[in-house]
Amino acid sequence: MSGSGNETRTHRIAVIPGDGIGVDVTAEACRVVDAAGKAYGFDVEWTSYDWSCERYTATGRMMPDDALDQLRPHDAILLGAVGYPGVPDHISLWGLLIPIRRAFEQYVNLRPVRLLPGVQSPLAGRTASDVAMTVVRENSEGEYSRVGGRQGVGADEMAIQTSVFTRRGVERVVRYAFELARAQDLPVCSATKSNGIVYSMPFWDEVFAVVAADYPDVASEQCHADALAARMVLAPERLGIIVGSNLFGDLLSDLSAAVAGGLGIAPAANINPERTYPSMFEAVHGSAPDIAGQGIANPVAQVLTAAMMLDHLGEAGAVAGIGTAVDAALTEPAHRTPDLGGRATTTECGSAIVAAL
Ligand code: NAI
Ligand code: MG
Repeated sequence: MSGSGNETRTHRIAVIPGDGIGVDVTAEACRVVDAAGKAYGFDVEWTSYDWSCERYTATGRMMPDDALDQLRPHDAILLGAVGYPGVPDHISLWGLLIPIRRAFEQYVNLRPVRLLPGVQSPLAGRTASDVAMTVVRENSEGEYSRVGGRQGVGADEMAIQTSVFTRRGVERVVRYAFELARAQDLPVCSATKSNGIVYSMPFWDEVFAVVAADYPDVASEQCHADALAARMVLAPERLGIIVGSNLFGDLLSDLSAAVAGGLGIAPAANINPERTYPSMFEAVHGSAPDIAGQGIANPVAQVLTAAMMLDHLGEAGAVAGIGTAVDAALTEPAHRTPDLGGRATTTECGSAIVAAL
């Protein structure tokens, strides 16, 4: 079936379903990828890992000592979500997600959103042509550092958390944003806060200006993160690629997801652009303990996340096919899950996408 001769392409994917709804939505995403493989001529070899909070409770570790060695030979990693009540979030985050992101130099966190058919934006009167933007979040340093400490007791207790911004770290993520903007013919907006944060943010701005000079064909601007948040609500049509630090990118991408219809439809990827290591694909949402086990989680975010993975693996035909199938499925109200005002279960929504493929 493959375009070049009769050799089938095989992608080796590590799957970490994780906790809560991560398990349910990842099952649907794998089903959609397998169906896309049949339609577009590739095979996927899945290797599943039970690394999760459940495992932590049983063994005291989120993942085994040689976890990174086990993951390294794969072409990509598909992750559901990790985190569950009973296990502190910093344990699940620093015990699994962050080691993978850092060891595999996944310094770009990519979060595209668009308003899908049949999905109502919380912004009055906004349609698909108004809401389509991508947040490029720095994913390896910045505010999410382990530099700092706590000391003192009682009223004298204090905590210090230090941000770390390196020239190499800022430049590479800003450059990625400009490359993406050039490829998609969109403007770049840099989220800053150089009025209040007087060392790291002016540094970020300086590096942004240096990189921008290499892309005279790409429209670019800087915007204070707070004003940018307001603009994402008031004038989303004027935004394309938004690049921000680890913290600003995190906050702004939850906002962009909300503007496009919520966490249930927002995909994301942790990319190692040099492809030295596998990249990791995980929806923006978490394990949603409030609806876990009910079979009503929206699988669309994870399906679109799997499509980003196929894009990374060069399966452009399948990516377009999945996009069209998601649109077709959501156009029918009966296929929408409760977060989109429907009554479909996770599996029913997934099956509708598979059927549309
Ligand atoms: P969350 O994203 O799990 O849930 C926030 C709200 O959105 C909940 O009301 C949930 O029901 C709803 N929601 C999320 N995804 C949905 C979907 N696919 N369909 C329908 N509704 C959906 O965030 P929360 O509650 O702050 O975190 C829960 C746990 O997940 C925590 O332990 C947190 O640390 C972890 N988490 C993990 C992430 C990851 O693995 N990358 C990312 C964010 C949170
Ligand atoms: Mg977040």
